Amino acid sequence: MAKVITHSEQIDFTLSELEEMPIPGKVLVVNPEHFDVKYVINPHMEGHIGDINKDVAMKEWIRLKEAYQKLGFYVHEVPGHPDFPDMVFCANQSLPNITADGTKQVVMSVMHAPERKGEVPFIQEVYEESSYDIVHLDESKFTEFEGMGDAIWHFGKRLIWGGYGYRTTSDVYEHISNTFNTPVIALELVDEKFYHLDTCLCILNTETALIYPKAFTEDGLKKIRTIFSNVIEANQHEAEELFACNATCPDGKNVFIQEGCTMVNDALVRSGFEVHQFDTAEYLKSGGSVFCMKMLLW
Ligand code: ARG
Repeated sequence: MAKVITHSEQIDFTLSELEEMPIPGKVLVVNPEHFDVKYVINPHMEGHIGDINKDVAMKEWIRLKEAYQKLGFYVHEVPGHPDFPDMVFCANQSLPNITADGTKQVVMSVMHAPERKGEVPFIQEVYEESSYDIVHLDESKFTEFEGMGDAIWHFGKRLIWGGYGYRTTSDVYEHISNTFNTPVIALELVDEKFYHLDTCLCILNTETALIYPKAFTEDGLKKIRTIFSNVIEANQHEAEELFACNATCPDGKNVFIQEGCTMVNDALVRSGFEVHQFDTAEYLKSGGSVFCMKMLLW
């Protein structure tokens, strides 16, 4: 079912009507040996050039990596690159898919910032080694698309949530919907502090989403509430300063989240989730946290 939902009233399906998707079992991570803030391409990076404590950043990343292993995920680690200080945020360079017959595909990103464009071929190599069919966007038509920073799979269902406005243009979703034969619900982002969809929407399980409401339009919120029966709202401090909505719930039960998101964590526990807190303070200086420091793969 290929289509792009641009208005909430176009949602003519329920979750139970959507095809099931397997839950990914692998996690791709990029070693942060070269992680740094060397330029400013989002508001969170302002004032942080040269401000990264490399040892602390490495320790924070290792704890997170080990937590995926403890949950039973296979961790595929690749080295960083000295020219690309943001490559550790490996949610951004691609959007993978698995079809009903088990074919693996990936759409490679067209990064918004010139500073990050060179990361994409390195991530592409991982997919080539893992027998994915590689799809490149026609860059003369589609000028910006930042992978799973903006295009997020619904949990366990053949449905993509497609953010646009800062790093991705909306026209790309028609193409992605056709390529993956998957419906896309488009969501406009309206606050530059929440420049990627993964900074304001975290899909926790089939029914539950964690959001920062002010990052969306009114109709965007309607779309979210039409599909998710349980919507947890983060407050401004936890969403903006602690990146609460950049959490991840890779198995639909265990939530990995920046430490200190007290109100969100209470709500998560009330909804039956198990909360695991991580310090990602060094990465917050670059405008990223738990979700975007990995890519889930089949
Ligand atoms: N400094 C990086 C950038 O601005 C951070 C990316 C974080 N990724 C994310 N999906 N939120 O591109």
